[in-house]
Amino acid sequence: MKLLSVASEVYPLVKTGGLADVAGALPPALERLGVTVKTLMPGYPKVMASLTDPETVFEFPSLLGEPGRLIAAQAGELDLLVLDIPGFFNRPGGPYIDAAGKDHDDNWRRFAALSLAGAMVAGGILSGFQPDIVHAHDWQAALVPAYMRYRGIRRPSVLTIHNLAFQGQFGPDIFSHLELPAHAYGIEGVEYYGGVGYLKAGLQCASAITTVSPTYAKEIQFATSGMGLEGLISARADVLHGIVNGIDTDIWNPETDPYLAEHFSQKAPKMRAGNRRLLEGRFGLDADKAPLFIVVSRLTWQKGLDLVCSTAPALVEAGAKLAVLGTGDAGLESWLLSLAGQYEGRIGVQLVYDETLAHVMQGGADAILIPSRFEPCGLTQLYAQRYGTVPVVARTGGLADTVIDANSAALSAGVATGLQFMPDNGDSLIDAIRRVVELRNDAKTWGAMQRQGMRLDVSWTRSAAQYADLFTSLVPA
Ligand code: ADP
Ligand code: GLC
Repeated sequence: MKLLSVASEVYPLVKTGGLADVAGALPPALERLGVTVKTLMPGYPKVMASLTDPETVFEFPSLLGEPGRLIAAQAGELDLLVLDIPGFFNRPGGPYIDAAGKDHDDNWRRFAALSLAGAMVAGGILSGFQPDIVHAHDWQAALVPAYMRYRGIRRPSVLTIHNLAFQGQFGPDIFSHLELPAHAYGIEGVEYYGGVGYLKAGLQCASAITTVSPTYAKEIQFATSGMGLEGLISARADVLHGIVNGIDTDIWNPETDPYLAEHFSQKAPKMRAGNRRLLEGRFGLDADKAPLFIVVSRLTWQKGLDLVCSTAPALVEAGAKLAVLGTGDAGLESWLLSLAGQYEGRIGVQLVYDETLAHVMQGGADAILIPSRFEPCGLTQLYAQRYGTVPVVARTGGLADTVIDANSAALSAGVATGLQFMPDNGDSLIDAIRRVVELRNDAKTWGAMQRQGMRLDVSWTRSAAQYADLFTSLVPA
């Protein structure tokens, strides 16, 4: 089977969050199951600069108004198709925002172009690669199934929802520029609340829909989590699948990770100490034996970072210390900085994006706080478990599916890997933090929990097989 995967960010080329991790790790896992995968992504400056032996395989005289080309290249295990449209992608800033932090105002056109290119590849424009099926990720690629439908490209497509909070919703005026037939602008097509909805269009047109955990797949069929799309999603429940994310266990391997100060394993967890010292140093924290909590996250309301800020003084009072790595909302950033100023040596903050530091933190901390208000899957709790950091998570979405709560039954059966708390508010978060402090005083129980987390199979093996089964079921024999 030949698969085209389309995504707006792919690790290690460009990453703003978990989507990149998944789009970078799932294709190699599928390849190991015999699926041939090419990954289509935009040619941002960083991506273009990292290509070795690029080869132009197709030229577009104009794609939604701009000339461009498709470049074939290899990046590690990834077989890439890079969409090089300088007018859309060669500019400063991130994949979605400009240098000043504002959305690029032509995002609708940039990602429609990505989707149209994907549909054209599915339609067979490349000699030597005719995909049997397309896998589109999030709103940025969600027009692929719509372009396929309205251009008569009869191949199956799967749309994966990584986060319903980002829907690609634009005004009605863009429709005439999308190169879609007039009848596509309807409730069965791309129209959404009087404008154009990219994710909505994909949900409508894809052969099947997946999301990144079974619990989130259930949650999004209801108004509390469906963000306005619950009606459409529940109407398509027969083709909706929740497949939990895995992680790249070669990149995230505590025995070989080049970012770590010291390597360790389940059998030799004491070697985590070197990472802890490095982490304390980087965050200006006192080098003592107090429980060390971390946060590695986008700083947003979704991630419950306001709860971390409001409970931070109580965390310090409970005898613990905290290191926060993240970027995001200006209000949360300044709240965190003022906490760090107030609790010197006990709270440390780094407002940067730093992959190396993220690995060191997972390798040296005692516990990671993830009080998300909703979480489609979440990856940091998976990295944490593999690295012996105990996750403390809100019981929602993929967090509920991937962390086994240390209740008394789970503790006595020796299967607990972390703590879940509910409801998602400051009181239950601080209760959970106090429980961690208590549990950590019991070295035997704590060690058993760490080891149990490290033993879990969080690789892509099982989930990639579920994707492969789904793709196979959709491709005509
Ligand atoms: P989301 O995609 O919603 O942000 P995930 O938990 O799925 O959440 O993925 C987040 C990814 O981004 C993880 O790989 C995490 O380590 C990484 N990450 C988040 N913030 C930072 C940061 N400031 N520095 C380094 N890595 C970060
Ligand atoms: C999104 C979600 C996160 C998920 C990631 C990868 O960014 O917020 O929960 O882990 O996508 O699927």
